[in-house]
Amino acid sequence: MSDTAASSPNNLDAFWMPFTANRQFKSNPRMLVGAKGMFYKNAEGQSILDGTSGLWCCNAGHGDPRVVNAVSQQIAELDYAPSFQMGHPKIFELAARVTGMFPSGLDHMFFTNSGSESVDTALKIALAYHRARGEGTRTRLIGRERGYHGTGFGGISVGGIVANRRTFGTMLTGVDHIPHTHLPEKNAFSRGQPEHGAELADELERLVTLHDASTIAAVIVEPVAGSTGVILPPKGYLERLRKICDKHGILLIFDEVITGFGRLGAPFATDFFGVKPDLVTLAKGLTSGTIPMGGVVCSKDIYDAFMTGPDNMIELFHGYTYSGHPVAAAAALATLDCYKEDNLFERANEIASYWEDALHSLKGVPNVIDLRNLGLIGAIELEPIPDKPTARAYEAFIKCYEKGLMIRTTGDIIALSPPLIVEKSHIDQIFDTLRTVLKEVA
Ligand SMILES: Cc1ncc(COP(=O)(O)O)c(C=O)c1O
Repeated sequence: MSDTAASSPNNLDAFWMPFTANRQFKSNPRMLVGAKGMFYKNAEGQSILDGTSGLWCCNAGHGDPRVVNAVSQQIAELDYAPSFQMGHPKIFELAARVTGMFPSGLDHMFFTNSGSESVDTALKIALAYHRARGEGTRTRLIGRERGYHGTGFGGISVGGIVANRRTFGTMLTGVDHIPHTHLPEKNAFSRGQPEHGAELADELERLVTLHDASTIAAVIVEPVAGSTGVILPPKGYLERLRKICDKHGILLIFDEVITGFGRLGAPFATDFFGVKPDLVTLAKGLTSGTIPMGGVVCSKDIYDAFMTGPDNMIELFHGYTYSGHPVAAAAALATLDCYKEDNLFERANEIASYWEDALHSLKGVPNVIDLRNLGLIGAIELEPIPDKPTARAYEAFIKCYEKGLMIRTTGDIIALSPPLIVEKSHIDQIFDTLRTVLKEVA
């Protein structure tokens, strides 16, 4: 049997694929069967350059032997251990290492298995925190239009992408949204953070006036929104949000599921922007996508508010069977080693200007109506084909794949987020391919 035959399943029907046009995919499947470094390999044996770190997660690239060995050793040594009333050493080490990467004061970490669970966990901690302090009237959660916080009911409630919300009933009640910060008429073709729009943070003041601060528990935002098609925070915006939260005793949650672990060329967006939230949600880059794992980092004040009462009492009635899974912990520790030993965050920072120039070289290519970037994130917004929204970007996605490049599209926006091990030659390949393809889909 050839390799290709061995890796081609003969029945695609049973798997209900997530966020996929199932019938379209199954009529013309794209099967990945291997990955190493910057490249996937598909079932036809073609190399596919990973322009998206999988789904924004494989920040250390693919198949690093340090992670592979750590995972295989761990599964042989201790395959599973409960985290309810039990522990194992690696998860304590991991919590200490991750919190040690944050500014002091962000000292504690709760473990989950995904970004969606991290978001639910952070929202629940925020609500329970206010109650623990005797401010139980603070039950309202504020998200943002076009925000993506995963697909749990908490995440879609505070999220702001209509397709992810409209078919799922009433979701959480008591949620409101501030506007997104995408202002193409003022900020199109910005390099880095856009100049205009910091005042949009003041919409939070409007919601405080409407609902009263005493009813608001927390505001959650992605410092850089990724899944909605890359929306950057205007200069001064996050700082202003922080100030308003402080003024009214509202917790600020940064959803760093994609910005965490070097995506911006700094460990976290918190460092990059110099704005310190009260809670941070993490996932993806924590294990470089190898084993599912997420987490919530929270301030000392929040943790301490729970550590009262008799010490034989459970302080937070929340957790998952796989919170702190030993194999995921081993993967995360080895991933952190890769980041550190190979200076990947610094590397990302150094190569970001080359990335920016390469992206912006697409200005003037037909149908490109905006280009935006920060760190190792890039977005190309395309003019939609009249009456056929998303069709142009989808065609570009298919053509790129056929030419050996994996990109990601949302609506008519192409989002790019390569592994932090990316070399200049890969960046050239990404944008040369895109230049050719965008001319073809014109
Ligand atoms: C900002 C943000 N939050 C949460 C999530 C959800 O993560 P997961 O798919 O691991 O549940 C994502 C996923 O893309 C994300 O980008």
